[in-house]
Amino acid sequence: MTALLEVSNLARTYDVRRGRWPFARLATLHAVDGVSFELPAGRTLGLVGESGCGKTTTAKLVLGLLPASGGEVRVGGEALPAAHSPHWRALRRRMQMVYQDPLGALDRRLSVGRQVMEPLVIHGAGSTAERRDKALAMLDAVGLAQHHFDRFPHELSGGQRQRIVLARALILDPQLLVCDEPISALDVSIQAQVVNLLLALQQKLGLAYLFISHDLRMVRQVSHEVAVMYLGRIVEQGDPDRLFATPAHPYTQALVSAIPTHGRARKRRIVLPGEPPNPVDRPAGCAFHPRCPHAVERCRIETPALRLLADGRRAACHLAEQIA
Ligand SMILES: Nc1ncnc2c1ncn2[C@@H]1O[C@H](COP(=O)(O)OP(=O)(O)OP(=O)(O)O)[C@@H](O)[C@H]1O
Ligand code: SF4
Ligand SMILES: [Mg+2]
Repeated sequence: MTALLEVSNLARTYDVRRGRWPFARLATLHAVDGVSFELPAGRTLGLVGESGCGKTTTAKLVLGLLPASGGEVRVGGEALPAAHSPHWRALRRRMQMVYQDPLGALDRRLSVGRQVMEPLVIHGAGSTAERRDKALAMLDAVGLAQHHFDRFPHELSGGQRQRIVLARALILDPQLLVCDEPISALDVSIQAQVVNLLLALQQKLGLAYLFISHDLRMVRQVSHEVAVMYLGRIVEQGDPDRLFATPAHPYTQALVSAIPTHGRARKRRIVLPGEPPNPVDRPAGCAFHPRCPHAVERCRIETPALRLLADGRRAACHLAEQIA
């Protein structure tokens, strides 16, 4: 069966200035560098990795909000059409994005009801009465009351605002939600509520999620599969329980070792030496080798491919079998 979303060899580069005047010259930054994955309908792929590794760029490429420098995105077996073409607009109804900051995503001057109905207006769907009914049904689906329809974003809590963002994203009956840090701007006490709502909506509507978050415990809880990114590439991908219990890539090991544990014996935290390298100066061989505690000579020369391991996951490490 064709996956809802098929991403192959996706790449995005930027020309950036490097060095100071008068010695500045243009260099190429590889923000996303050969990313491939599949996301079946109704499933969640969690995307993790430290700041700047290319998560948001991947999300925007998937939706066609940024032009790709290479590779392909297919939705329901169909290649993503040119951005802003009528065909792309039609396809975008099926794929919506939820951003980190709900207040930034909402217009403070418009009532909740108008904002939830807005996508229907843009797509010319339904009569005024039908749009209102659908918006009220969406508010109900995300756990808001009818009286929220006439309120304004600043009158609501952070959790309520994120529910409005979700109601607006869902009103066109999408199949895929790309959630970029959907809970990190929310108070810790309401993060779980919003995640539970996302899980309930997935069950009810069969939605697929591309779920980006720095909160690895949350990612483990919601995802059917997890991909770990480092410097624009996926370095490990697979079943969340296996990946978090016995990481096969040293970078995943370091990320997992930093997850706070409660009640259980303290794990040894792996502190990586040095800063993440500048993506303009991607290290040769395995890009992780300058920070990797397991690096051998081969790692400095040969780039490891993302390869299938015997237990069904994928890892881009020459020594993955020994490390897992
Ligand atoms: N418009 C741009 N011009 C130049 N470089 C860019 C541009 N947008 C992103 N980048 C670079 O691309 C890389 C990936 O950025 P991206 O926003 O995808 O990271 P991220 O994984 O989402 O990080 P975070 O966790 O901080 O949100 C970074 O090195 C970033 O500096
Ligand atoms: S290939 Fe080498 S440097 Fe890269 S993660 Fe594996 S052991 Fe470390
Ligand atoms: Mg980001």
